[in-house]
Amino acid sequence: MILDGIEIAKKIGDLIEKKVADLKNFGVPSLTCVVSSDDKSTRVYLNSIKKNCDKFGINYAEISVNGENIFSEIERLNADRSVHGIMIMHPVPKGIDEFKVLSMIHPEKDVEGRTPENLGMLLMGKPYFTPCTAQAVIEMLKYYEIPLFGKEVTIVGRSTTVGKPLSLLLLNEDATVTVCHSKTRDLIDKVKHADLTIAAVGKPKMFDASWFKDDAIVIDVGINVVDGKIVGDVDFDSVSKKLSVSKVPGGVGNVTSVILMRNVVNAAEMVWKR
Ligand SMILES: NC(=O)c1ccc[n+]([C@@H]2O[C@H](COP(=O)([O-])OP(=O)(O)OC[C@H]3O[C@@H](n4cnc5c(N)ncnc54)[C@H](OP(=O)(O)O)[C@@H]3O)[C@@H](O)[C@H]2O)c1
Repeated sequence: MILDGIEIAKKIGDLIEKKVADLKNFGVPSLTCVVSSDDKSTRVYLNSIKKNCDKFGINYAEISVNGENIFSEIERLNADRSVHGIMIMHPVPKGIDEFKVLSMIHPEKDVEGRTPENLGMLLMGKPYFTPCTAQAVIEMLKYYEIPLFGKEVTIVGRSTTVGKPLSLLLLNEDATVTVCHSKTRDLIDKVKHADLTIAAVGKPKMFDASWFKDDAIVIDVGINVVDGKIVGDVDFDSVSKKLSVSKVPGGVGNVTSVILMRNVVNAAEMVWKR
């Protein structure tokens, strides 16, 4: 089975469109991106967010910051009732503490689920928002009715945006979770043992079919550019011949993008229906 993110993104997108239409008497949901670098990859990412916002009828805005003014801008956005979602683009300005920046965002506007408050609430099972990519993996698994109860899951990658929050979401689904990273010994054994492996490493085609047991399921979170083409952390051609695996491109990334949009709409609804 090939796990297709485009199909799921379309289903989630249809529900977003319906919700935006249902809420139109309240106003228009809005997202503001706080930008401190205008390099090519940031611009590509911002353009894709803007395109999605336009598609779903969400107001999109960008503000540029260049140093300490990032804090006053976040304060202003927190206080502005017409701003529902705030996204801080990485990297933050040189010399600025990213943790301090994220800590300032109001958790109800933290549509990426990156603030310490939302991550702490995730630990307790009740965040306003969950990191979009981790949530996207869970929604893909649910869409394809992949059972998690009692399953052995190995996550390779322990970032705060993907591996760590995903480990909590999978624990909530009664999976037994092993989280691996660059210092893990005998990684291949941990992957071979797993019913489900999530690859979130950032190393192109690191995992070929020889890594996995015969009936394993593989979710590829990786997005890597090789010779101008996007490839995952999994060697799709080798693995898809034997196992169920998600596509890259057209997999987790597509679902992640619409979950961000859904979070913005939910943030607006939370304010409007309070
Ligand atoms: N699909 C999406 O929507 C989406 C969203 C976000 C990211 N991504 C992609 O997902 C990948 C991971 O992103 P990220 O932000 O989580 O990356 P990250 O912050 O760089 O984390 C990478 C993780 O992989 C681990 N790692 C690196 N090399 C390893 C190795 N040889 N063996 C085992 N573990 C290794 C690192 O270990 P240490 O902690 O020990 O350094 C770290 O925990 C990237 O390709 C990124 O582009 C996709």
